[in-house]
Amino acid sequence: MSGIRRAVASDAPSLAVLAERTFRDAFGARNSPENMDLHCARVFGSDIQQREIDDPGLITTIAEAESHMIGFSQLRLASAHASVAAERPAELKRLYVVAASHGRGVGRDLLQDALDTAAREGCDWLWLGVWEHNPKAMTFYRKFGLEVVGTHAFMLGQDRQRDLIMSVKLG
Ligand SMILES: CC(C)(COP(=O)(O)OP(=O)(O)OC[C@H]1O[C@@H](n2cnc3c(N)ncnc32)[C@H](O)[C@@H]1OP(=O)(O)O)[C@@H](O)C(=O)NCCC(=O)NCCS
Repeated sequence: MSGIRRAVASDAPSLAVLAERTFRDAFGARNSPENMDLHCARVFGSDIQQREIDDPGLITTIAEAESHMIGFSQLRLASAHASVAAERPAELKRLYVVAASHGRGVGRDLLQDALDTAAREGCDWLWLGVWEHNPKAMTFYRKFGLEVVGTHAFMLGQDRQRDLIMSVKLG
């Protein structure tokens, strides 16, 4: 069986492992081990993902196949960005699928759910930050109508990077 569902408290340890693994797979080759380690230590860990799952303003969604986690998304309601002229903006904070499952519609299902959920919650725009050196993800997001509207800085360890801000109007 495969599908998506909301995360529950007991998912925290597995989610922490999945989140770190997919982040390292996506960006490890293009960043120093030191900066990757600093960043991963700051944002991944059972306790950290536990707090995220418990956060009522952050909707964490798990994709699984045969009871194994293969991807996840995190949607932050009521999160504004200066480049996004929205009354009720929502931010897609994370969207990651394990490499072995890329190209099979998992990311599509997670993103479509995030768009539907944000609209259902009364949000008028969805936005996200994507590393400027991640053209694959940008191509993926453009398929869903997201367009580049600005930039912001993102600290990966001690490396100041540039994210592009992409957004789409909901509804
Ligand atoms: C970006 C990501 C989430 C896409 O998930 P995915 O499960 O591989 O994508 P899907 O199979 O659902 O593809 C959905 C659509 O996007 C297209 N697509 C996906 N990846 C693509 C790519 N690299 N280039 C071009 N099109 C792509 C698919 O062809 C498909 O189009 P279709 O519906 O017309 O057939 C996934 O590749 C990923 O986790 N990447 C690493 C982490 C990352 O970069 N996350 C984003 C951080 S901002």
